[in-house]
Amino acid sequence: MTKSAPAEVEDSARTSGRAPQPRGRKRAFDQHSRELLARFLQDWVWPRWRSLVVALTLTAFLAMATGAYPIIIKQSFDTLLKGNQEMLPYVLAAIAFITAARSFFLYLHTVTTSRIVQRLTTDLKQHTFAHLMHADFARLSRETPGRLMSRLTNDVSFIEQGLMAAINTAVRDSLSIVVLVGTMIWLDWAMSLIVLGVYPLAAAPIMIITGRLRKVARRTQSELGQMTAELSEKLSGVRLIKTYRLEDYAAKRVNASFEEVFRLRMKAIRTRARLDPMLEAFGGLAVAGVIAFAYWRIASGISTVGDFMGFVTALLMASQPIRAIGNLAGRVQEALAAIESVYGILDEKPKIVDAPGAPPLQVSEGHIRFDDVSFSYGEGATDNAVRNVTLDARGGTTLALVGRSGAGKSTLVNLVPRLFDVTSGAILIDGQRIDQVSLTSLRNAISIVSQDVTLFDDSIRANIALGRLDASEEEIVAAAKAAAAHEFILAQPAGYDTQIGDRGLKLSGGQRQRLALARAILKNAPILLLDEATSALDTHSERMVHEALDRFTEGRTTLVIAHRLSTVQNADMICVMEGGRVVETGKHGELVARGGIYAGLVRSQLLADDSSG
Ligand SMILES: Nc1ncnc2c1ncn2[C@@H]1O[C@H](COP(=O)(O)OP(=O)(O)OP(=O)(O)O)[C@@H](O)[C@H]1O
Ligand SMILES: [Mg+2]
Repeated sequence: MTKSAPAEVEDSARTSGRAPQPRGRKRAFDQHSRELLARFLQDWVWPRWRSLVVALTLTAFLAMATGAYPIIIKQSFDTLLKGNQEMLPYVLAAIAFITAARSFFLYLHTVTTSRIVQRLTTDLKQHTFAHLMHADFARLSRETPGRLMSRLTNDVSFIEQGLMAAINTAVRDSLSIVVLVGTMIWLDWAMSLIVLGVYPLAAAPIMIITGRLRKVARRTQSELGQMTAELSEKLSGVRLIKTYRLEDYAAKRVNASFEEVFRLRMKAIRTRARLDPMLEAFGGLAVAGVIAFAYWRIASGISTVGDFMGFVTALLMASQPIRAIGNLAGRVQEALAAIESVYGILDEKPKIVDAPGAPPLQVSEGHIRFDDVSFSYGEGATDNAVRNVTLDARGGTTLALVGRSGAGKSTLVNLVPRLFDVTSGAILIDGQRIDQVSLTSLRNAISIVSQDVTLFDDSIRANIALGRLDASEEEIVAAAKAAAAHEFILAQPAGYDTQIGDRGLKLSGGQRQRLALARAILKNAPILLLDEATSALDTHSERMVHEALDRFTEGRTTLVIAHRLSTVQNADMICVMEGGRVVETGKHGELVARGGIYAGLVRSQLLADDSSG
């Protein structure tokens, strides 16, 4: 598979839904870039104007110290060549002073500007991350964690470099140039005209080169996202990689990504590298012109050798900032591509939000009603995953959902905490539509143990406490006991303080499930959603957990999904799903007697149990 193809796809995906981009050759600073830049300055740079004023003041001092340098050089040559011996100490002292002052301001300036930029990008990361955390579940699952990570790290560092270059160059270097050009004019205005005539010729090629850089930068950033995604995916899939001997496969996939980034980086470097020699060549032209002119002027006695030396010093000192300004345009283009990507995140507003003035949910019995609910995952999903489901889970009872894999059980359960919103129909809790009450109150009323358990890299205690962040030690232990987790926790090296490795690798599947249960129990919510919460347990721990759950679910409305039918036999109601529809409902005995789908499932599972045990 060629790597450039997905990069292009990502490219257009990134810009889709925004102002349409003119295709083909783009002007370096089109309307869209200017708007983007203006918006970024308004949102992120302008609020820091005070620090910027400080930085600018330092810049002015720095520029003054810089401008004084060629003047000192002129003075020293003029006085010393005249044989003015007693001036020597003053000249030396002045040089030392100017140099020291310049170094001092340079230090302050570096620290101040770096602080502004670091603070800004840190705030930007924090803001973007918080925004992402509040984004819809569907949006977050659309992009891999690696790609999102890359936007927060790689893209923001492009912005950081761009800002650093912008503050240093746009402000410090352009001021230096102004001062140095001023000095040059003061020293010899005619000679200055030669210099000033040469540099503007460089403007057109610079514009063309930077336009190209923007394009490369977009693709680089998208490929960096791909690379980060590839890396995190392969690193977190080590178990699969080891057991299937996929080391070489993984290395090949990741290497391809590294190579593509290398290729794009080199492309950017080659493009950017054209700038410097070009500016250097223009500088050479200017110097040659100046020397020819100076020879004539000194010979005819209009200027002194000191004038000439001072002028050349100023010219040489100006060449570095002039080159930096030439390079700045490229950096800004790269930063703009990154700003676009970050705004891509920030501009997406969550769809699942509180209705205006939504009151909190008032749970009395915990009656959940599905009223003709249908749901489609949208984009790409051809069929509705849930179709016309009408169901009542009476307050305090247990409703079991069973059915084949892919029947829509998890989907139906995920609709209750509004991880997704129903496509049509409504879900009501105690008569209140869940989309008409506040999200916080809704989610506070629900505990979930889902199919895949998430544990953070923290202590066991902290992982249970995620259920309720302000829980006391006793409550945490009680919850662990209720989930039949207390004993195995105490058996860990540091008990409740044992650190769970990244993604909980150091625990068994059943142990992880019991921690998730303890977390849900700790939350102590009136509604409990269990999605195969006991599937990874052996018969013994399953029995223990079930006893605990029986106690815990008493008086709570529980929706439980289980593949093992033995675990749902005691449910107040069993509801069989197929193809997104509810096809049978009733108690275990009734359904078996009816001899329908459920009876078939029971029979096949009994057979399977017989043959396996
Ligand atoms: N995020 C998603 N995007 C698109 N389609 C999805 C998504 N998640 C599930 N589906 C589809 O929706 C249907 C129902 O899936 P669901 O996860 O609800 O099944 P399930 O009954 O829980 O199955 P299992 O018993 O295997 O957990 C399936 O056809 C599945 O392919
Ligand atoms: Mg499921």
